[in-house]
Amino acid sequence: MTTNTTLFPDQNERATLNKNLDQYIDASLTTIGKGTITPRENLTNFRKTLSAMQFQAPQNLDNLLQWTLNTLETGAVQMTHKGYLGLFNPAPSYPSEAADRIVSALNPQNCVWSHAPVAVEIEAHLITQICDRIGLPKGSVGHFTSGGSEANATAFLCALTRANENYAEHGARAFRGQPRIYISKESHLAWLKIAHQNGVGRQAIRLVPTDGHGCMSATALKTIIEKDTAQGDIPVMIAATAGTTNAGMVDPLHACADIAKTSKLWYHVDAAWGGALIASARERHVLDGIERADSVTIDAHKWFASTMGTGMFFTAHPETLTKTFRVETSYMPSNDEDVDLYVNSMMWSRRFLGLRLFLSLASVGWEGYAQHVEHGINLIDYLNTQMHKHGWTIANNSRMAVTCLIPPKHIGSAEDMVKKIVASGTHWVSLTKIEGQPVLRACITNGRTQKADIDALIAQCIA
Ligand SMILES: Cc1ncc(COP(=O)(O)O)c(C=O)c1O
Repeated sequence: MTTNTTLFPDQNERATLNKNLDQYIDASLTTIGKGTITPRENLTNFRKTLSAMQFQAPQNLDNLLQWTLNTLETGAVQMTHKGYLGLFNPAPSYPSEAADRIVSALNPQNCVWSHAPVAVEIEAHLITQICDRIGLPKGSVGHFTSGGSEANATAFLCALTRANENYAEHGARAFRGQPRIYISKESHLAWLKIAHQNGVGRQAIRLVPTDGHGCMSATALKTIIEKDTAQGDIPVMIAATAGTTNAGMVDPLHACADIAKTSKLWYHVDAAWGGALIASARERHVLDGIERADSVTIDAHKWFASTMGTGMFFTAHPETLTKTFRVETSYMPSNDEDVDLYVNSMMWSRRFLGLRLFLSLASVGWEGYAQHVEHGINLIDYLNTQMHKHGWTIANNSRMAVTCLIPPKHIGSAEDMVKKIVASGTHWVSLTKIEGQPVLRACITNGRTQKADIDALIAQCIA
């Protein structure tokens, strides 16, 4: 009976491994910062190396750690590069990285309060503070999720559970007609997978037309709900987006809230990345109306720059949340609906996810995050002003740190520009469509990106 000391090294061995790992990570971050953003690993060779690893004989862990970092340095798109202006994958804040180390080392189990009372209470405190910041009513609750998709799925499950008291037991069969959820055609389409998962089918989704500028048309929304109701469908939920993935547009939050109220529907606001504007007194008005939601999604792993896998779900209806996720077993130490997260959320075993945002927020305060989001917005304002001077068209009128740009004819197509920029390796931008029009999309996702990085992008765009 001997302990495997590679899996469970003693304190001295651990200290050496940690010290080395620190150095390898620092070296990697430096190399990444000076290198190209896009992968340059020869994948044919890499696959050969990988397939030769049959795990028959042990390998030296220290070498493996170094190998992993070296491979990732050249084998992935680099979120920590200051020129990454891409999908909303942040360069992680240092406090959230530190949180991951602590949580990984101690591995507290947050599914029941009694197993990690301090960790559960840190998360609960943070959630309450954010509910207040959003403007949700007193007594609102929430929890951390794996991401925005899980938070949105939670919202829809709650809406279905509240809409029909038999849904929990009978699923979609409990409804007399086709349940419906209303999202704009510019929404994040994880909603399709969510409808599939929740048993009401992808046909439950109504993609509401937009107003020509990427925001849900409230008039179209009202008309579609009326038509659906008239034909015997069961409208259940409106999910407005506050910060569309493509273009940072905000659906008309008050108008959607009014329609939800009149039609007695659950009102969800998906503010997965735009929700970070709650930090900024200067920009909070962009989210006006979010406080009227029955539930809200905000991802800490987007604009709050937490490490990946940190979403948040908030709701003004704690009783519905419990009704949705309640379960009793004899093998859990307790079954307390007020504090035990496994009876209030989708996950069972639960990592102490909230520490990532807790340490970040506690160490900079709301002011620090205001500075962070405003920095991104200021950079995009600057980029837009310069690009406009050079004849580019700004296709999205967003107050978030994202721009969608159409090149002037003499420069060429958005597609060619994106290809050219990505191939340069100094910047990463994406090609997408807004209202059917191809655009070059640039989004500030790295708190370290500076004006000089934007100037270098502009130089490429006008060359
Ligand atoms: C508006 C919006 N909602 C939901 C999601 C899905 O979030 P996640 O990738 O964290 O599951 C995204 C992701 O980009 C998003 O932009």
